[in-house]
Amino acid sequence: MMLNNMPIINGDPLWALLGRFRADQRKHKIDLLVGVYRDEYGNTPVMKTVQDAEIHLAHEAHSKAYGMLSGNANFNQQMAKFVLGDSPSLKDQCTIQTVGASGALRLIADLIATLSPDSTVWISDPGYINHRPLMEGAGLTVNTYPWQNKNGQLDIDACFAALEKAKEGDCNYPLN
Ligand SMILES: Cc1ncc(COP(=O)(O)O)c(C=O)c1O
Repeated sequence: MMLNNMPIINGDPLWALLGRFRADQRKHKIDLLVGVYRDEYGNTPVMKTVQDAEIHLAHEAHSKAYGMLSGNANFNQQMAKFVLGDSPSLKDQCTIQTVGASGALRLIADLIATLSPDSTVWISDPGYINHRPLMEGAGLTVNTYPWQNKNGQLDIDACFAALEKAKEGDCNYPLN
């Protein structure tokens, strides 16, 4: 059966660390694992403005009809303006919505593979566990660059030394 061919992959070390954090009984522990805001109770609350906007949208919604494949055109336009400001690049860009960041990365991987299949994608090590399989899944070659020394501090020289080996047309995914 097809699903029998599915490989077993190693778990995400970040999740293992989260399990250890939850099991840790110390009162004053602090979760520095994932970069999201937490209040003094360790919760990530929904901000009041977001809640208000959601209520407003729920009241204003007129339809749930199918939209465009590229997402909400008005939202895309405003996002492009927000990111690029008054840049002359605004007229050359194309913005689309994706399902999450992983969805965006897979689309960009397919785009690179279509336009420039010989490009190597350079990802950080350590980095997100999904970056390599996302890029390799699109048929791209992946290489890594370090960014930490053995004490966990930023090692920018090692980072640049590795990226020196990149060739023209290669892509790099920014430091996490
Ligand atoms: C910088 C960054 N943040 C967040 C995520 C997770 O995104 P999502 O859970 O929306 O797929 C990714 C995915 O690779 C990422 O690269």
